[in-house]
Amino acid sequence: MANDAVVDKGRRRFLTATTAVVGGAGAAVAAIPFIKSWEPSARAKSAGAPVLADISKIEAGQKVTFAWRGLPVFVVNRTKAQLDALPGVDSRLRDPKSDNTAQQPEYAKNEFRSIKPEWLVLIGICTHLGCVPDFFPELKPEPFDPNWQGGFYCPCHKSRFDMSGRVFDGVPAPANLAVPKYHFVDESHILIGVDPGKGAA
Ligand code: FES
Repeated sequence: MANDAVVDKGRRRFLTATTAVVGGAGAAVAAIPFIKSWEPSARAKSAGAPVLADISKIEAGQKVTFAWRGLPVFVVNRTKAQLDALPGVDSRLRDPKSDNTAQQPEYAKNEFRSIKPEWLVLIGICTHLGCVPDFFPELKPEPFDPNWQGGFYCPCHKSRFDMSGRVFDGVPAPANLAVPKYHFVDESHILIGVDPGKGAA
């Protein structure tokens, strides 16, 4: 299946990079599908502790999933081509300007739905009935959309979201994918779960 190939390809690249960094001793770590650079205690996690995400190894065009509050959080390093394509799909979207304020913090209410244009941070839960959408990053026709410009496709009931997580018109999902609170700690780390200016926890 085309989607499996894209996702697997991205994951394989990431694991290769991770293994190169940590060496042989890191092989077991590299096999963990969810990437967490910092593990709070189980009790802290259940209380909703923030998660520090290392984004330094995420290549352009790649998505890595982090776990936060038991939810998948997608972090995508968007390419210039993916960003340039965003305005072109506005007319096909239900909420192109992200006017539904419940779906993102105020600082992510912009055309990119993010703090830095290239870095997209989303809760990877479909706003229809809660499936995890698949990542289709390429700007090319897909079986579900001949004019596809990259984004997310939910296999459960065929909802589509663009490369900013904005929902298409005419699909079951009622709202854009949610953007969690987050901020940049430095150039290589995002703290998921905490607004900018609120410190490390
Ligand atoms: S859960 Fe995603 S379309 Fe229904």
